Amino acid sequence: MTDINIDHFIADDSDELNTESTRKEANTLPLPKVINERYKIKRVLGVGGMGIVYQVDDLLLKSIGLNNYHMAIKVLNSEASHFADADLLLVNEYIQSSHLHHPNIVSVQHLAVCNESQRGFLIMPVIKGELLSLLLDSPFENIPIDARLKYAYSLINCIHHCHKRGVIHGDLKPGNILISDSNELFLFDFSISRNLDPEKNKFTINFNQVHAWSGDYAAPEVLQGNAPTIKSDLYSVAILLYKLLLRVHPYQQNEEGPKPRTKEEQKLHHILLQAMRPVPSERQLNFKALLNIFKEMKNHQIDNHTPIMKKVTSIFSKK
Ligand SMILES: Nc1ncnc2c1ncn2[C@@H]1O[C@H](COP(=O)(O)OP(=O)(O)OP(=O)(O)O)[C@@H](O)[C@H]1O
Ligand SMILES: [Mg+2]
Repeated sequence: MTDINIDHFIADDSDELNTESTRKEANTLPLPKVINERYKIKRVLGVGGMGIVYQVDDLLLKSIGLNNYHMAIKVLNSEASHFADADLLLVNEYIQSSHLHHPNIVSVQHLAVCNESQRGFLIMPVIKGELLSLLLDSPFENIPIDARLKYAYSLINCIHHCHKRGVIHGDLKPGNILISDSNELFLFDFSISRNLDPEKNKFTINFNQVHAWSGDYAAPEVLQGNAPTIKSDLYSVAILLYKLLLRVHPYQQNEEGPKPRTKEEQKLHHILLQAMRPVPSERQLNFKALLNIFKEMKNHQIDNHTPIMKKVTSIFSKK
């Protein structure tokens, strides 16, 4: 099994379009304006610690009259490119994503190599919308509670799907979640995902050298260099749900002033804390049960007399 050393994949804000000199240093060739005579680069959609994602026009799809020819391609950014085995992270992302088929997960359609630059790239649909990280930075009231519950439902639903298929996401954070303009949640970025079936992990990743995680969402054992597990995903999901439904990060004070929690919010707080216990084996959050909870919520018309948080926590507490 090949070892991937991703020692230096530290998130930065570099704009690859302006890093010609860095690219030369990194000994990578620039991408052409049209990749493989098919994908015409239109703009940068986003830059992560490892990758840069461009919006492209798929000229083949366009030429046969399809309207939906806007695609996204992910290549390694200039930081990552000069590590010999870094391309394997794109391969890993492709392999792990190939086990997943879910409406709330961005499906990676192809893995390819640019003929001109010899750089590997992934092709996937473009999600037009906003990162959840940006939305969560806006005032709580800007996102109505029913939208928050919908996102929570979708998130649990798609993580449950990953885990059922043996895929540990490994880097769950609001920066790896997009909310589309039509208000749907999309999970993406399976670059450091692992599979419960060792046969399906074609490459090993030295997790004690990864610095890509957000300290706000990663489980303590992962920050200490251990490989992500189902339990570490659980920890991150619980923090995400906490921030989404209870307005603050669990380890932060509410900066919006003294706003005492309702009884129901306190209950939700305790339920989510059970999934954030420091000892992984003690973490509990039954995904299946949570799915049922949110399904139930979706199916029930919430009457105007029942405060929505009461409804949420009463269903949560049935477990
Ligand atoms: N399918 C997509 N549609 C629209 N924008 C996308 C898509 N995929 C990625 N992006 C944008 O590109 C950015 C970087 O993508 P991605 O998270 O996959 O890179 P990364 O380097 O692996 O990230 P990280 O810093 O989490 O390791 C995202 O934050 C997002 O803004
Ligand atoms: Mg990312």
